Amino acid sequence: MCTGGERRQAMPASWEEELGSPAALETLVHLLAVSQEGWQAGHIHRVEYLAVRLAVAAGLPPEEVEAVRWGAALHDIGKARVPREILQKPGPLDPPEYAVILQHPVWGVELLADLPCLPLPTVDAVCCHHERWDGAGYPLGLQQQAIPLSARIVSVADVFDALTSARPYKAAWSCEKAALYLLEQSGQQFDPHLTRLFVVEVLGLGQLADHGGDPAIK
Ligand SMILES: [Fe+2]
Repeated sequence: MCTGGERRQAMPASWEEELGSPAALETLVHLLAVSQEGWQAGHIHRVEYLAVRLAVAAGLPPEEVEAVRWGAALHDIGKARVPREILQKPGPLDPPEYAVILQHPVWGVELLADLPCLPLPTVDAVCCHHERWDGAGYPLGLQQQAIPLSARIVSVADVFDALTSARPYKAAWSCEKAALYLLEQSGQQFDPHLTRLFVVEVLGLGQLADHGGDPAIK
């Protein structure tokens, strides 16, 4: 695991205070957000919002919801090490470029090593948000419940926002079309329970989950 074994498993009420100042983390997230340009703008805060709503729907206690929030806000911090020409490339990446992108979860954990008081679920989300329920993800190839819960939550929020946002190579999908994609990938890419919670409770599209989706929605 690339999660820090030294990190605390349980979060005391004072963990934010132990960071020195929660405001410092807020500043870090703000700087990350404003550094995102063009089609990436707003992604951090949307993923943060959606991940918190899913964590609440999943019944997590407040301190774990907060840890998920930080994990969602920081999930792609490792991309700070990815050259801009790769991040902003309008076309498909070639294999060497894709190999660089694959490093960003591990680089994110390395960059956060200077904040050892961050709760474990936060670091787990950074490390494992590209893991897949079927084990075909990266960087560790974890499966199902072995993937930390915070990472499974951020994964759903991250992919949904990517699908519903415009990219240089695609138009933004509708919420309904993206929800159908999540349902199709339930049990493959995503945790089935969290996928249903997200579609039903966060998106309010229970009719799609209950009836297997509407293929007429494009
Ligand atoms: Fe990522």
